[in-house]
Amino acid sequence: MIFKNFFDKKEKKYQIQIFPSKITVEIDSKKTILQSLLDQGVSFPHNCRVGSCTTCKSKLLQGTVKELTDKAFVLEEEEIRENFILVCQSIPKSDLIIENTEVQ
Ligand code: FES
Repeated sequence: MIFKNFFDKKEKKYQIQIFPSKITVEIDSKKTILQSLLDQGVSFPHNCRVGSCTTCKSKLLQGTVKELTDKAFVLEEEEIRENFILVCQSIPKSDLIIENTEVQ
């Protein structure tokens, strides 16, 4: 029964708003935020996709994510306190608002 519940978990859709641009798109609960954004045709800054270059670093203004890797190795202490996330290493757990000034 436990296995059945695990495998029955359905993919959910959440909305992400990228501030200060006016971009709002639907993202997938089973993919990283970066992957969903790229799949939707959003030109989002990225490079390594594995959580080491910090090119995708963005501030989480609202919502909850599950982080796949420990960002403490690559982000500054102040950035962690200010709620920065690595978009390539974050799975959405709710609707989100993030800030990335490079996204137009
Ligand atoms: S793309 Fe390199 S850390 Fe996200």
